[in-house]
Amino acid sequence: MLALRAAIAAACACLIGISSAQNCTKDAWHYPDVFGAEFTGLDANIVRNWTLNVTSPEGKLIPSDGLSFCNVTVVYHHPGQDDNTNVQVWLPLEGWNERFIGVGGGGFASGKLNGENLAATVNLGYAASVTDAGHDSQTWYRAPWILSSKGNYNYPLLVNYASLAIHDMTAIGKSITEQYYGRQAKYSYFNGCSTGGRQAIGSAQRYPEDYDGILAGAPAINNPDLSVSTFWAQSVMDRLGHYPSKCELDAINRLSVEYCDALDGIKDGFISDPDNCNFDPQSVVGQNISCENDTSIRISTQTASIARAIRQGPTSVSGKSLWVGTAHGTPFTGALAHANTLCVGSLTNCTGVPFPMAADWLKNFTRRDPNYDIHKMTLADYEENFYLSHQQLNPFLSTDDPDLSRFRGLGKKMISWHGMADECITVYGTRLYYDRVLAADNDTGTYYRHFEAPGVNHCSGGPGSFYPLRALDALVRWTEGGIAPDVLIGYSLPNATRFQGDIDQTRPICKYPDMLKYKGGDIGQYGSYTCGGKDDKGKGGTAEIGNAELFGGKGGFLGST
Ligand SMILES: *[C@@H]1O[C@H](CO)[C@@H](O)[C@H](O)[C@H]1NC(C)=O
Ligand SMILES: *[C@@H]1O[C@H](CO)[C@@H](O)[C@H](O)[C@H]1NC(C)=O
Ligand SMILES: *[C@@H]1O[C@H](CO)[C@@H](O)[C@H](O)[C@H]1NC(C)=O
Ligand SMILES: *[C@@H]1O[C@H](CO)[C@@H](O)[C@H](O)[C@H]1NC(C)=O
Ligand SMILES: *[C@@H]1O[C@H](CO)[C@@H](O)[C@H](O)[C@H]1NC(C)=O
Ligand SMILES: *[C@@H]1O[C@H](CO)[C@@H](O)[C@H](O)[C@H]1NC(C)=O
Ligand SMILES: *[C@@H]1O[C@H](CO)[C@@H](O)[C@H](O)[C@H]1NC(C)=O
Ligand SMILES: *[C@@H]1O[C@H](CO)[C@@H](O)[C@H](O)[C@H]1NC(C)=O
Ligand SMILES: *[C@@H]1O[C@H](CO)[C@@H](O)[C@H](O)[C@H]1NC(C)=O
Ligand SMILES: *[C@@H]1O[C@H](CO)[C@@H](O)[C@H](O)[C@H]1NC(C)=O
Repeated sequence: MLALRAAIAAACACLIGISSAQNCTKDAWHYPDVFGAEFTGLDANIVRNWTLNVTSPEGKLIPSDGLSFCNVTVVYHHPGQDDNTNVQVWLPLEGWNERFIGVGGGGFASGKLNGENLAATVNLGYAASVTDAGHDSQTWYRAPWILSSKGNYNYPLLVNYASLAIHDMTAIGKSITEQYYGRQAKYSYFNGCSTGGRQAIGSAQRYPEDYDGILAGAPAINNPDLSVSTFWAQSVMDRLGHYPSKCELDAINRLSVEYCDALDGIKDGFISDPDNCNFDPQSVVGQNISCENDTSIRISTQTASIARAIRQGPTSVSGKSLWVGTAHGTPFTGALAHANTLCVGSLTNCTGVPFPMAADWLKNFTRRDPNYDIHKMTLADYEENFYLSHQQLNPFLSTDDPDLSRFRGLGKKMISWHGMADECITVYGTRLYYDRVLAADNDTGTYYRHFEAPGVNHCSGGPGSFYPLRALDALVRWTEGGIAPDVLIGYSLPNATRFQGDIDQTRPICKYPDMLKYKGGDIGQYGSYTCGGKDDKGKGGTAEIGNAELFGGKGGFLGST
């Protein structure tokens, strides 16, 4: 009997020694146990040297000769709900860092199968998972799936998109990871930006047991209010019957940056202190702006009033604020911005080009009517749609509950960050949420910290700005090592398609409500800055941390644990 046990133990020990790559086959797995889910398929295959065209900063860390991993796809649905859902789990063949990570989506995509964000995280050594939540995962800007017929929401898909799909994916991803490596992940994380940021914050509120550490970038908190506000600029133009050219709108933003750039002590091309910027677009009316093809235009009163309305945010018929505005220095135009126009023949012959998600939101999510004419709205109609969206969809999609006591009680950690020049999701929405969490709990900083990155656009970008490339490392250090971050390190990213160690400059990204201050010295040096301000402790935080440590090799901090 004892001998038999010893033999079994030896056999098991032997099995644990087998290279995990050998068992990346379809038959090696059993379906996870997930409440309410019925599994219908599982596929697994080894992918070697998989290459992709990358655009995100994290994606550019993927070597150009590609990634190798075990690619597991699990298919399930909730019986009776016609919501066939695909979950991908990608498992590093070697160098697994013993962590599991859930990866968020963007726009109307709950997550992108075979996506860059998934690949970028696997590249760092994580076992990573993503879900399509039962709908098309490749088209972020359209959601034809939200209506099952005119007037009727597809509620199962709405609930999946809101948060259930991420919760299911977490259970599936953890189980697949454990089965593959023969042991549980030591820690679990979630990382997402935009919709992914909303999923991240929502997970902390609704399923606080799911993740040990959560990173929420530019989160779409208050999604139903925010989404109607993404049509505000177009609605103002429609009612004025005035559609300014990109050249004129860009000029107003450029002039605001020139006006307020030096408030933090240095002129670096972006505004670090938009709250103290009192730029008024009306002050530049009449300025002659040179545009493309030897054309020029004078900034008009109407265009200035549109710019002012965008900064202020949507208001009701009685002049009440419906939602927060945007920070000075935030672009009015660009692929993810809200005041785009198309001009044909001249700079004054233009039409409005709504942010695509805004159109879908008003027609399908708010009116439940694809034929609703979004360009005919009066201010009263706009206001009504704001309330309609809020009332119908907040229960699913607001993720704005400031009570994080369950999350706190479980010892979990969360970092959120937001670009101060985010043209898609206003930085002020996240600030509003964080202020409400602070108001509910003075000890918020022991488990949740928020950072605002000057000059950064939606989830990345922003000329000359410093991006928190290693925020995930800071979260890991806090979650596993108890070292709470006072600053995130901002990296000035090279334009290169791929990069590894070629980062020339860093700068602190301060913990809200602290502000970046220039102390003096070489403006290119990290140590020339400090964080201070509203509750000024004069702390430079971890300003002495050098580049080499943070950017030493593929895993950086992670590689050294
Ligand atoms: C990457 O981009 C190149 C050039 O634009 C294109 O030819 C190629 O098909 C793309 N590859 C993938 C995997 O999308
Ligand atoms: C595949 O990737 C590995 C690991 O990055 C690399 O060493 C190898 O050279 C690559 N092979 C090819 C054919 O690109
Ligand atoms: C992973 O496997 C699934 C299902 O077999 C497949 O659709 C997908 O394209 C694979 N991904 C890669 C990167 O090969
Ligand atoms: C894969 O191999 C490991 C040993 O390396 C073993 O513990 C695990 O059970 C295997 N997983 C599957 C799915 O066969
Ligand atoms: C400027 O001229 C080029 C070439 O004719 C044209 O492609 C471009 O659209 C023009 N730009 C604007 C803003 O009209
Ligand atoms: C702007 O100034 C230029 C150069 O002085 C002039 O040619 C042009 O007509 C002016 N544009 C407008 C719209 O007034
Ligand atoms: C104005 O724009 C419209 C398209 O919106 C175009 O059909 C028309 O030709 C343009 N007019 C001039 C004078 O260029
Ligand atoms: C709205 O839903 C309809 C029907 O599902 C779909 O065809 C359309 O693309 C959606 N979006 C808009 C903006 O109408
Ligand atoms: C937080 O601290 C402020 C000022 O110290 C105090 O007025 C407030 O009551 C505290 N709030 C909570 C929820 O403890
Ligand atoms: C990087 O791209 C920006 C924006 O396109 C450009 O202004 C800058 O000159 C580029 N820098 C380098 C070093 O190529």
